[in-house]
Amino acid sequence: MPDLKKFLPPIPDSLKLQPRRAGTNPEPETALDNAQEAGKHAAGWIDERLQLSGAVRWALFRKVPRHDWTYTLGFSVMFAFLSQAVTGVFLATAYDPSTTNAYESIRQMTNEAFLGQFLRGMHRWGSTVMVILVFLHMAQTFFYGAYKYPRELNWVIGVVLLVLTMAMSFTGYLLPFDQRSYWATIVGVNINGTGPIVGPYLSDFLRAGPEFGATTLSRFYAIHMLLVPGAIGAMVGAHLWLVMRLGTTSPPWNKPRKKADA
Ligand code: HEM
Repeated sequence: MPDLKKFLPPIPDSLKLQPRRAGTNPEPETALDNAQEAGKHAAGWIDERLQLSGAVRWALFRKVPRHDWTYTLGFSVMFAFLSQAVTGVFLATAYDPSTTNAYESIRQMTNEAFLGQFLRGMHRWGSTVMVILVFLHMAQTFFYGAYKYPRELNWVIGVVLLVLTMAMSFTGYLLPFDQRSYWATIVGVNINGTGPIVGPYLSDFLRAGPEFGATTLSRFYAIHMLLVPGAIGAMVGAHLWLVMRLGTTSPPWNKPRKKADA
């Protein structure tokens, strides 16, 4: 088991609380100095109790191979997911998941609510961005051989995350409840039903019964905003925990260091 503390980047000097010594470290002068010091004290107080700064430091200041931006893809996916979660919460405040009002509530939030069109656009385009980023991240980890021992479990968790991301897109598509989303979802649910053994059960579960009806929309809404985001949150936690323990994979063209360089 690797000793995590060895791999943690140090706290940058600018974030360290400097003990004040007579003559060397003057009293804060401006309101901004005071505010900065208060912020550091508050963060230090919380961290002394929660001991979370290690994880934050790892995420923000960890070392990755030089000049290789592909290592930012995993965190880009996470950012896209968080953006979806935040915009989704705002959209949920105005959305009505009933077959009679869903379309009208979306029309109203888009055309009449303050910043409604902007938020909806962010959520709509954000879903496409997230799917593209997940595939790019998967391609990166595949081509760098990051699925090999000892990271197989992280690859498997990644596959579950991929399926969950697709489930988010699929269930979100029905929510505007217009002609296109209605018929496209019927086709999608029927395709699921053709799967071996579990297929018919899966399509019954998605429709909330043998027929596409009023409860199907509620079922999709619950899956879209509770079940799948919760599962993604838990899986991302496990995914990051494993990356913290095992470190990232070096690019395939990096040569192992000779003893003399070490
Ligand atoms: C919601 C989706 C996902 C999120 C938020 C996510 C996030 C991350 C993050 C932050 C890292 C560490 C930094 C990095 O190497 O980029 C990582 C690493 C990794 N991810 Fe993902 N990931 C997701 C989906 C996937 C998928 C679909 C796969 C593959 C099927 C995958 C496989 C891996 C592997 C194998 C690593 C270790 C990389 C290495 O050792 O260099 N992830 N992921």
